[in-house]
Amino acid sequence: MNASAPTIQLDGLTKTYGSGETEVQALKQASFTIDAGQFVVMLGPSGSGKTTMLNVIGAIEEPTSGGLHVGGVDVPGLDQKGRTEYRRREVGFIFQFYNLVPTLTAKENVQLIAEITGGDAGARAEEALASVALSDRLDHFPAQLSGGEQQRVAIARALVKDPPVLLSDEPTGALDLETGRQVLELLHRSCRDGRRSVLLVTHNSAIAGMADRVLHLRDGEVVADDVVEQPVPAGELDW
Ligand SMILES: Nc1ncnc2c1ncn2[C@@H]1O[C@H](COP(=O)(O)OP(=O)(O)OP(=O)(O)O)[C@@H](O)[C@H]1O
Ligand SMILES: [Mg+2]
Repeated sequence: MNASAPTIQLDGLTKTYGSGETEVQALKQASFTIDAGQFVVMLGPSGSGKTTMLNVIGAIEEPTSGGLHVGGVDVPGLDQKGRTEYRRREVGFIFQFYNLVPTLTAKENVQLIAEITGGDAGARAEEALASVALSDRLDHFPAQLSGGEQQRVAIARALVKDPPVLLSDEPTGALDLETGRQVLELLHRSCRDGRRSVLLVTHNSAIAGMADRVLHLRDGEVVADDVVEQPVPAGELDW
């Protein structure tokens, strides 16, 4: 699967948490295909299953039933080792609250992930941080960085291993408009050459304007699937 964008195919994917009175059907029979290289935004209100969807596609959580194929690989069918390899090599994650390691500097946070894929991890970490315009913050700890800078470190960390799949959970949720636009531009640029399939979840409908395609989630169900004819550059979005 490496080095080319995979298709992501869901067939009746279901995720149920708990049982009996506490049972929650977070995903109900979700079926869709994200084409190789597509930039897809998934919109839905709080609790509609967006994070669950990313966690299942990223093999952080197992589905309860249904099929999931990424680049033709049957993800739920992977054994423990296969899942770990898939998470490490195929998928880049960006979270709303950055999830940086607080005791490591910006460079060390990125380098840690660069080491997974080998080569000169230090040089690659610096290169990735340069690509998000943070060359002058290499030795800063997360607490010494602004929210937007921390999110850019998180983007560098996700992209340094050059993952064919990028999963991004409310990447601009904690950022102001201008910083949010910059982060979205970076994400868009990262997949422009079509070598990466991106699924970005948000409850901010303005962000949908930059997507190739918009999936709407309600109560764990995909209720609409819209193709965007003329996506707007991230820098022109407004909210
Ligand atoms: N580990 C869990 N155990 C039990 N229920 C869970 C768990 N994780 C999520 N849920 C439930 O599943 C549903 C979907 O949650 P999810 O986190 O996917 O929503 P979301 O769309 O990401 O919401 P938000 O916009 O608030 O982040 C919610 O009803 C939630 O309470
Ligand atoms: Mg969520």
